[in-house]
Amino acid sequence: MMRQQIARVAAALALAGTLGAAQTQAQTTPDDSLYRALGGLPVLQKVVDDFMASMLADRRIKHTFAESNIERVKQKLVEQFCQLSGGGCIYTGDPMREVHQGLKLSNADFNALVEDLQLAMDANGIPSHTQNRLLALLAPMQRETVSR
Ligand code: HEM
Repeated sequence: MMRQQIARVAAALALAGTLGAAQTQAQTTPDDSLYRALGGLPVLQKVVDDFMASMLADRRIKHTFAESNIERVKQKLVEQFCQLSGGGCIYTGDPMREVHQGLKLSNADFNALVEDLQLAMDANGIPSHTQNRLLALLAPMQRETVSR
């Protein structure tokens, strides 16, 4: 009885140890290669500044931002791009579907946004291979942001 109990405790501890080790590893060695390729936070901030300027000058989509707090959106975009690329930031904005559903965005709106982001990344010297890595992470959000 006693021996069985000890064996059980030992097994539980071993499992906890393994899980703990896996977790520690996940926390200490995240893949931040994209974040670093993009140039880290200073470049991401500049990209988002240029990206927003480009969208606000874009006749196709600027109207969608008419009632938005632009500084907030920029801050949330920086957090989101940083987190997605492995930079260790935490996105503190609202869920994508919730934010965008009332805007009734189309695929054409989405494509316009992607073009504006590409312009901003070009302007900041980000190579196309690196641009494509970020765009691939954003692609699944088309479903969450486009609603017509
Ligand atoms: C990959 C696609 C997209 C991503 C990752 C994205 C990301 C974001 C983020 C992080 C925010 C801020 C959320 C918050 O305030 O909590 C936001 C807000 C906003 N986005 Fe997007 N977005 C996408 C697509 C689009 C498209 C296609 C448009 C229009 C062409 C758009 C227009 C807006 C507007 C107008 C707001 C502000 C909403 C408000 O003021 O409540 N977004 N987006």
